[in-house]
Amino acid sequence: MAGSLRRASWNRHLLHAAAAQAPAGMTIEVFDALAAVPLFDEDLELAQPDGPPGVRALRTAVAAADGLLIATPEYNHALPGVLKNALDWLSRESPQGEVLTERPVAVLGASGGPWGTRLAQASLRQVLHTCGALVMPSPTLFVAHAAQRFDAQGQLADPALQASLSRFMQAFAAWIGRVAVPA
Ligand SMILES: Cc1cc2nc3c(=O)[nH]c(=O)nc-3n(C[C@H](O)[C@H](O)[C@H](O)COP(=O)(O)O)c2cc1C
Repeated sequence: MAGSLRRASWNRHLLHAAAAQAPAGMTIEVFDALAAVPLFDEDLELAQPDGPPGVRALRTAVAAADGLLIATPEYNHALPGVLKNALDWLSRESPQGEVLTERPVAVLGASGGPWGTRLAQASLRQVLHTCGALVMPSPTLFVAHAAQRFDAQGQLADPALQASLSRFMQAFAAWIGRVAVPA
Protein backbone atom coordinates (compact mmCIF):
# COMPACT_ATOMS: atom_id res chain seq x y z
CA MET A 1 0.00 0.00 0.00
CA ALA A 2 0.96 3.60 -0.50
CA GLY A 3 0.66 5.94 2.48
CA SER A 4 -0.97 8.73 0.49
CA LEU A 5 -4.56 9.54 -0.43
CA ARG A 6 -3.48 11.86 -3.24
CA ARG A 7 -4.75 10.79 -6.66
CA ALA A 8 -1.46 11.55 -8.44
CA SER A 9 0.68 10.34 -5.53
CA TRP A 10 4.34 9.68 -6.35
CA ASN A 11 4.23 6.87 -3.86
CA ARG A 12 1.30 5.21 -5.60
CA HIS A 13 3.22 5.50 -8.88
CA LEU A 14 6.26 4.01 -7.14
CA LEU A 15 4.21 1.14 -5.74
CA HIS A 16 2.86 0.27 -9.19
CA ALA A 17 6.37 0.52 -10.65
CA ALA A 18 7.63 -1.83 -7.92
CA ALA A 19 4.78 -4.26 -8.61
CA ALA A 20 5.80 -4.33 -12.27
CA GLN A 21 9.28 -5.46 -11.19
CA ALA A 22 8.06 -8.30 -8.96
CA PRO A 23 10.05 -11.46 -9.72
CA ALA A 24 8.43 -14.61 -11.10
CA GLY A 25 6.23 -16.24 -8.47
CA MET A 26 5.45 -13.01 -6.65
CA THR A 27 2.13 -11.21 -7.17
CA ILE A 28 1.47 -7.74 -5.77
CA GLU A 29 -2.07 -6.68 -4.90
CA VAL A 30 -2.35 -2.94 -4.39
CA PHE A 31 -4.54 -1.94 -1.44
CA ASP A 32 -6.07 1.34 -2.52
CA ALA A 33 -8.78 1.99 0.08
CA LEU A 34 -6.86 3.76 2.82
CA ALA A 35 -9.39 6.61 2.64
CA ALA A 36 -12.07 4.23 3.96
CA VAL A 37 -10.13 3.54 7.17
CA PRO A 38 -11.62 5.76 9.91
CA LEU A 39 -9.56 7.53 12.53
CA PHE A 40 -8.59 5.07 15.22
CA ASP A 41 -10.81 5.33 18.29
CA GLU A 42 -10.93 2.79 21.11
CA ASP A 43 -14.64 3.49 21.55
CA LEU A 44 -15.22 2.51 17.91
CA GLU A 45 -13.14 -0.61 18.48
CA LEU A 46 -15.24 -1.55 21.53
CA ALA A 47 -18.49 -0.96 19.65
CA GLN A 48 -17.34 -3.01 16.63
CA PRO A 49 -14.91 -5.73 17.72
CA ASP A 50 -14.55 -6.95 14.10
CA GLY A 51 -13.66 -3.40 13.11
CA PRO A 52 -15.46 -0.92 10.85
CA PRO A 53 -15.77 -2.09 7.20
CA GLY A 54 -12.75 -0.09 6.00
CA VAL A 55 -10.59 -1.62 8.71
CA ARG A 56 -11.87 -5.13 8.00
CA ALA A 57 -10.95 -4.74 4.33
CA LEU A 58 -7.44 -3.58 5.20
CA ARG A 59 -6.91 -6.27 7.82
CA THR A 60 -8.19 -9.01 5.52
CA ALA A 61 -5.86 -7.88 2.75
CA VAL A 62 -2.83 -7.84 5.05
CA ALA A 63 -3.72 -11.15 6.70
CA ALA A 64 -4.01 -12.82 3.29
CA ALA A 65 -0.62 -11.57 2.08
CA ASP A 66 2.74 -13.28 2.55
CA GLY A 67 4.28 -9.84 2.96
CA LEU A 68 3.46 -6.16 3.02
CA LEU A 69 5.13 -3.56 0.81
CA ILE A 70 4.69 0.06 1.93
CA ALA A 71 5.56 3.14 -0.14
CA THR A 72 5.55 6.08 2.22
CA PRO A 73 5.51 9.83 1.63
CA GLU A 74 7.31 12.08 4.10
CA TYR A 75 5.27 14.61 6.05
CA ASN A 76 7.21 16.86 8.42
CA HIS A 77 10.10 14.40 8.63
CA ALA A 78 7.86 11.46 9.56
CA LEU A 79 5.33 9.03 8.10
CA PRO A 80 1.95 10.61 7.19
CA GLY A 81 -0.94 10.40 9.64
CA VAL A 82 -3.12 8.30 7.32
CA LEU A 83 -0.46 5.61 7.24
CA LYS A 84 0.18 5.75 10.99
CA ASN A 85 -3.57 5.52 11.55
CA ALA A 86 -3.81 2.40 9.38
CA LEU A 87 -0.89 0.81 11.24
CA ASP A 88 -2.50 1.62 14.59
CA TRP A 89 -5.60 -0.32 13.53
CA LEU A 90 -3.48 -3.18 12.19
CA SER A 91 -1.52 -3.38 15.45
CA ARG A 92 -4.64 -4.35 17.43
CA GLU A 93 -5.94 -7.77 18.35
CA SER A 94 -8.67 -8.85 15.91
CA PRO A 95 -10.47 -11.98 14.72
CA GLN A 96 -7.49 -12.46 12.34
CA GLY A 97 -5.00 -11.91 15.18
CA GLU A 98 -2.40 -9.11 15.27
CA VAL A 99 -1.77 -9.11 11.54
CA LEU A 100 1.52 -7.20 11.55
CA THR A 101 3.20 -9.51 14.06
CA GLU A 102 5.86 -11.61 12.31
CA ARG A 103 4.65 -10.33 8.92
CA PRO A 104 7.51 -9.67 6.45
CA VAL A 105 7.44 -6.01 5.42
CA ALA A 106 9.49 -3.88 3.02
CA VAL A 107 9.46 -0.09 2.95
CA LEU A 108 10.39 2.40 0.27
CA GLY A 109 9.30 5.93 -0.51
CA ALA A 110 9.41 8.91 -2.84
CA SER A 111 9.47 12.64 -2.22
CA GLY A 112 9.83 15.71 -4.37
CA GLY A 113 12.89 16.91 -2.50
CA PRO A 114 16.49 15.70 -2.26
CA TRP A 115 16.24 13.30 0.71
CA GLY A 116 13.79 10.76 -0.67
CA THR A 117 11.81 10.03 2.55
CA ARG A 118 14.81 9.00 4.70
CA LEU A 119 13.23 10.30 7.90
CA ALA A 120 9.74 9.06 7.04
CA GLN A 121 11.12 5.57 6.46
CA ALA A 122 13.03 5.70 9.75
CA SER A 123 9.86 6.61 11.65
CA LEU A 124 7.85 3.99 9.73
CA ARG A 125 10.42 1.32 10.61
CA GLN A 126 10.20 2.28 14.26
CA VAL A 127 6.41 1.81 14.27
CA LEU A 128 6.64 -1.48 12.36
CA HIS A 129 9.27 -2.86 14.75
CA THR A 130 7.01 -1.97 17.66
CA CYS A 131 4.21 -3.94 16.00
CA GLY A 132 6.46 -6.99 15.68
CA ALA A 133 6.72 -6.85 11.89
CA LEU A 134 9.80 -8.39 10.25
CA VAL A 135 11.11 -5.39 8.31
CA MET A 136 13.62 -6.03 5.52
CA PRO A 137 16.81 -4.22 6.63
CA SER A 138 18.33 -3.79 3.18
CA PRO A 139 18.43 -2.82 0.41
CA THR A 140 16.90 0.58 1.14
CA LEU A 141 15.29 2.70 -1.57
CA PHE A 142 14.92 6.46 -1.14
CA VAL A 143 13.48 8.06 -4.27
CA ALA A 144 14.43 11.76 -4.35
CA HIS A 145 13.27 14.35 -6.90
CA ALA A 146 10.24 12.19 -7.71
CA ALA A 147 8.94 14.59 -10.36
CA GLN A 148 11.91 13.66 -12.55
CA ARG A 149 11.32 9.90 -12.25
CA PHE A 150 7.80 9.56 -13.70
CA ASP A 151 6.12 10.84 -16.85
CA ALA A 152 2.83 12.78 -16.98
CA GLN A 153 0.86 9.51 -16.88
CA GLY A 154 2.71 8.36 -13.76
CA GLN A 155 4.74 5.75 -15.63
CA LEU A 156 8.30 5.17 -14.52
CA ALA A 157 10.69 7.10 -16.76
CA ASP A 158 14.01 6.29 -15.10
CA PRO A 159 15.87 3.10 -16.12
CA ALA A 160 18.24 3.32 -13.14
CA LEU A 161 15.29 3.41 -10.74
CA GLN A 162 13.68 0.53 -12.62
CA ALA A 163 16.83 -1.55 -12.07
CA SER A 164 16.89 -0.58 -8.38
CA LEU A 165 13.24 -1.58 -8.02
CA SER A 166 13.95 -4.91 -9.65
CA ARG A 167 16.79 -5.62 -7.17
CA PHE A 168 14.60 -4.40 -4.31
CA MET A 169 11.73 -6.71 -5.22
CA GLN A 170 14.04 -9.70 -5.66
CA ALA A 171 15.46 -8.98 -2.22
CA PHE A 172 11.94 -8.73 -0.77
CA ALA A 173 10.96 -12.10 -2.25
CA ALA A 174 14.12 -13.60 -0.74
CA TRP A 175 13.40 -11.89 2.60
CA ILE A 176 9.88 -13.38 2.70
CA GLY A 177 11.33 -16.80 1.93
CA ARG A 178 13.87 -16.39 4.74
CA VAL A 179 11.75 -15.04 7.58
CA ALA A 180 8.15 -16.06 6.86
CA VAL A 181 6.66 -17.95 9.76
CA PRO A 182 4.79 -21.08 8.54
CA ALA A 183 1.01 -20.73 8.98
C1 LIG B 1 2.06 18.29 5.40
C2 LIG B 1 3.22 18.03 4.47
C3 LIG B 1 4.50 17.91 4.99
C4 LIG B 1 5.58 17.61 4.14
N1 LIG B 1 6.81 17.40 4.69
C5 LIG B 1 7.82 16.97 3.92
C6 LIG B 1 9.07 16.59 4.50
O1 LIG B 1 9.27 16.65 5.71
N2 LIG B 1 10.05 16.13 3.67
C7 LIG B 1 9.87 16.02 2.32
O2 LIG B 1 10.77 15.57 1.61
N3 LIG B 1 8.69 16.36 1.73
C8 LIG B 1 7.67 16.82 2.50
N4 LIG B 1 6.45 17.13 1.95
C9 LIG B 1 6.30 17.04 0.49
C10 LIG B 1 5.89 15.62 0.08
O3 LIG B 1 7.06 14.86 -0.08
C11 LIG B 1 5.12 15.68 -1.23
O4 LIG B 1 3.89 16.34 -0.99
C12 LIG B 1 4.87 14.31 -1.82
O5 LIG B 1 4.38 14.48 -3.11
C13 LIG B 1 3.88 13.50 -0.99
O6 LIG B 1 3.82 12.17 -1.44
P1 LIG B 1 2.71 11.66 -2.50
O7 LIG B 1 3.06 12.28 -3.81
O8 LIG B 1 2.87 10.18 -2.53
O9 LIG B 1 1.35 12.10 -2.01
C14 LIG B 1 5.37 17.46 2.75
C15 LIG B 1 4.07 17.60 2.25
C16 LIG B 1 3.01 17.86 3.09
C17 LIG B 1 1.61 17.95 2.51
